[in-house]
Amino acid sequence: MSDWRLDAVPDQSGRTILVTGTTVGGLGHHTALELARRGARVILAGRTESKIAETDEAIHGEVPDAELERLTVDVSDLASVRRAAGDAAAFARSTYSSTTPASWARPTPAPPTVSSSSSRPTTSARSC
Ligand SMILES: NC(=O)c1ccc[n+]([C@@H]2O[C@H](COP(=O)([O-])OP(=O)(O)OC[C@H]3O[C@@H](n4cnc5c(N)ncnc54)[C@H](OP(=O)(O)O)[C@@H]3O)[C@@H](O)[C@H]2O)c1
Repeated sequence: MSDWRLDAVPDQSGRTILVTGTTVGGLGHHTALELARRGARVILAGRTESKIAETDEAIHGEVPDAELERLTVDVSDLASVRRAAGDAAAFARSTYSSTTPASWARPTPAPPTVSSSSSRPTTSARSC
């Protein structure tokens, strides 16, 4: 993928994307930043609340109108993952998840549709 360029990432408006490992300076931070810059609502997921807050502030410093949520999860603890999955369901009916930039660099399908007859929120997670 030697000819890949950051400006090839399309507009992400209308999408909610969960990004793990968002500690400032890491891949997750930069993934979240670029998604927020393109209009995505980004769920900042990590195991250390203070680090998530630091990333939230750093992204808002660059993208003042960024729509960010915070989610605490330790992915080495299944109970924590289950709880976080429940919390994430409250954020959006449909959530994409990203652990590497590769998952959002490719052309993405149209957002999934959700039946309007359902009164309960449902969550579908997509991860690449
Ligand atoms: N940087 C590169 O150029 C590069 C290249 C190829 C592959 N990679 C791989 O990509 C991954 C991320 O790299 P990075 O540079 O972004 O590393 P990083 O800055 O150290 O980020 C790792 C993230 O994972 C989080 N984390 C670790 N254990 C966790 C757990 N049990 N539950 C929840 N979150 C956890 C860390 O949270 P805390 O800060 O709270 O510990 C941190 O936010 C690594 O596996 C690395 O080997 C990196």
